[in-house]
Amino acid sequence: MSPGTDSAGDPGEGPILVVDFGAQYAQLIARRVREAHVYSEIVPHTATAVELMARRPAGIILSGGPKSVNETPTPTVDPAIYDTGVPILGICYGAQLLTLQLGGEVSRTGRGEYGRTPLTVTGSSPLFCDWPSDVEVWMSHGDAITGVPPGFTATAASADAPVAALQHAERSIYGVQFHPEVVHTERGADLLERFLYDVCHCLPLWTHTSIIESQVQAVRAQVGSSPVLCALSGGVDSAVAAALVHKAIGDQLTCVYVDTGLMRAHESEQVEETFRRQFHIDLVHVKAADRFFEALAGVTDPEAKRKIIGELFIRIFEEVAREQVLGSGPPGLAGYLVQGTLYPDVIESGSDSAATIKSHHNVGGLPDDLAFDLVEPLRLLFKDEVRAVGEELGLPHDIVWRQPFPGPGLAVRIVGDVTPERADILRAADSIVVEEIRRAGLYRDLWQSFAVLPAVRTVGVMGDGRTYAYPIVIRAVTSDDAMTADWARLPYDLLERLSSRIINEVEGVNRVALDITSKPPGTIEWE
Ligand code: XMP
Repeated sequence: MSPGTDSAGDPGEGPILVVDFGAQYAQLIARRVREAHVYSEIVPHTATAVELMARRPAGIILSGGPKSVNETPTPTVDPAIYDTGVPILGICYGAQLLTLQLGGEVSRTGRGEYGRTPLTVTGSSPLFCDWPSDVEVWMSHGDAITGVPPGFTATAASADAPVAALQHAERSIYGVQFHPEVVHTERGADLLERFLYDVCHCLPLWTHTSIIESQVQAVRAQVGSSPVLCALSGGVDSAVAAALVHKAIGDQLTCVYVDTGLMRAHESEQVEETFRRQFHIDLVHVKAADRFFEALAGVTDPEAKRKIIGELFIRIFEEVAREQVLGSGPPGLAGYLVQGTLYPDVIESGSDSAATIKSHHNVGGLPDDLAFDLVEPLRLLFKDEVRAVGEELGLPHDIVWRQPFPGPGLAVRIVGDVTPERADILRAADSIVVEEIRRAGLYRDLWQSFAVLPAVRTVGVMGDGRTYAYPIVIRAVTSDDAMTADWARLPYDLLERLSSRIINEVEGVNRVALDITSKPPGTIEWE
């Protein structure tokens, strides 16, 4: 199978299309389908049945959505899909929509169901194979299906959803009011597998090995013998993209790592060790700390810092591209640029062309005359798939599971002047935070955990002497997507260790504080 193309061979090789009616419901369903080793794609609800059929789907899932089917206007789907013979599963809003479109009834009963809800299986269904008659499922609905369409039967009920599941088995159309994609639904994963394997007859072809193989082929076909460049940041996405492209085209790939002087402790050594020594990738390591500190001298405004760092990064990247990569080829040689764009970026951009504009923006906008085309080997993947692919490619755990780090690096965690001395203080403190959080086994549970250096100094006493030095602020948050975040409740003994180690081991620090601000109203970073 080659995901992303129109040419699935066997019917069971086609993708599962997840029709998106808004919010994040569709993404979770698509991930669960892939966890069951079937390739899934998210498609907008505005796509016509002809457009959907052109993807030769093995099945279609109508996702949940934030709206009520009885509101107008409300997102809908081309009803011609019900006559294609392709199996359909409606979930929550999707189940209500197919009910309404096929002649059934959905009403506001006044009693919604939210959270864990007991469900009674009332009829036989291939989706409920070997289920006990009572299970607990996750519900989240205000409207309820109150009448099934002609030819349909109800197969499950709950206290406030008389039709909690319905089906027309001959037409392969199914609906469930509850959310099988949510972990709190007992047997939810099993229900999805039954739909994929028993109803749609999918083949379990989506594995980490098959992802790597298909992307290796795709990259080779795209770039031919042209030179390919990749900016490594030390983060997981660019690292996995680089490793994957290197597997495809070997020495045609040159990686550029710009050390801005604002990287985390040991980041540069780790990039060198992994990419140059372990993977034997042609790596240009630009040591540009002096240039960055010079450009940042006296700058305290957060946005000005970001702009300066972004522009200087591009200038340096451009110099390397012209002098060391494109310069060595024939005149007018065009190259390719690897981007670590992920599937959620592609979905959120809404269309292929919008995704490309966003990707360009991610590298800060390269000058047009560099004439790079983009190679995006991760554009079909969710973050958890990227990490799994990274592990399969042999990247170290430390890189694959690294917490997110902002493009401008430590500069946005140093409030006020960014100097080499202040960057050293923050780096040393940050390294202790990361080490102790890892030792406490919390590193993967936290979205981010790091140190911040404010622009004030305070009085302290150490030994017999008065000190006048900086505080370090510990910032640790939990989050799913960085859009919102909660401050992490770190154990007291861990906080005590952090405080004592930072004050004893980092010269220039005499106080440690904890940031207990959620987002909103705070942001995760301090600048
Ligand atoms: P905030 O601070 O806005 O951050 O809550 C949300 C997430 O984005 C990261 N971040 C950045 N990433 N360039 C980046 O590449 C930036 O300028 C930048 N600012 C914030 C931040 O680390 C968090 O994960």
